[in-house]
Amino acid sequence: MSKKEWFASWFDSPYYHMLYKHRDDNEAQRFLSNLLEKIQLPSKANILDLACGKGRHATSLAQMGYHVMGADLSENSILSAMQSRDAHQLKNLDFLVHDMRNPIKGVNFDAVFNLFTSFGYFQTIEENQRVCQAIHQMLKSKGILVIDFLNAHKVQANLKALEQINSEGLVFNIERWYDSNHFYKKIEVIDSKNIEMSTHIERVQALEFSDFKLLLEPHFKIEATFGSYLMEDFDHQNSDRLIIIAKKTT
Ligand SMILES: C[S@@+](CC[C@H](N)C(=O)[O-])C[C@H]1O[C@@H](n2cnc3c(N)ncnc32)[C@H](O)[C@@H]1O
Repeated sequence: MSKKEWFASWFDSPYYHMLYKHRDDNEAQRFLSNLLEKIQLPSKANILDLACGKGRHATSLAQMGYHVMGADLSENSILSAMQSRDAHQLKNLDFLVHDMRNPIKGVNFDAVFNLFTSFGYFQTIEENQRVCQAIHQMLKSKGILVIDFLNAHKVQANLKALEQINSEGLVFNIERWYDSNHFYKKIEVIDSKNIEMSTHIERVQALEFSDFKLLLEPHFKIEATFGSYLMEDFDHQNSDRLIIIAKKTT
């Protein structure tokens, strides 16, 4: 049996959600209301939240009245997203287990959102290109793509090599490092309640704005960049995020 790719197992684990629990619905709602002021979609726009996790952005967008599909590789996350959709009784919201390297067949969208560093996980540049081609194929003419990625320069400059986080009876021992192409985060989880210990490694490509430009053009025109969830201007040295707004050129 072939070994699962790291992103297929780590993001599907309950420990990922416990470690990142502060990345919650409130953060998603605040970001989206700032973002939507900048991109102004039609009120009934069809939006794809690509790599939606448990659907915090997708659910919030549906509550605003958009028609939303959330897609993610993690079956556990999609299951949880569906439960929350049903709890909120949102008919304009759908979820799907899906690999972003492929287009979803038979759908097209006014906008595709790829939020909170949900890019740059793969081994090869070709896989990044496949993601962009799939997005291009699923977008309507002049459709909008939003990519919310880390700011590689700031991450590298401020990398905290070692950290311990204690949360809800769990201990996370975190080690961070980088090479010329990637950021790595080794996470050792000690779960004393379930007498379990596991180790996971996150590996994200250190993509800069120039890398995204190469990937996106000529099929997209980059219309704007922002550097935070408050939609401040992007600043290479100081911004926490690299948020790219691009429009399909055809
Ligand atoms: C950092 S999380 C962000 C989740 C969500 N956007 C949020 O803000 O909560 C990255 C997500 O990408 C998903 N993912 C990783 N590889 C994927 C792939 N090949 N296709 C679809 N989703 C993928 C993971 O399962 C995970 O939910």
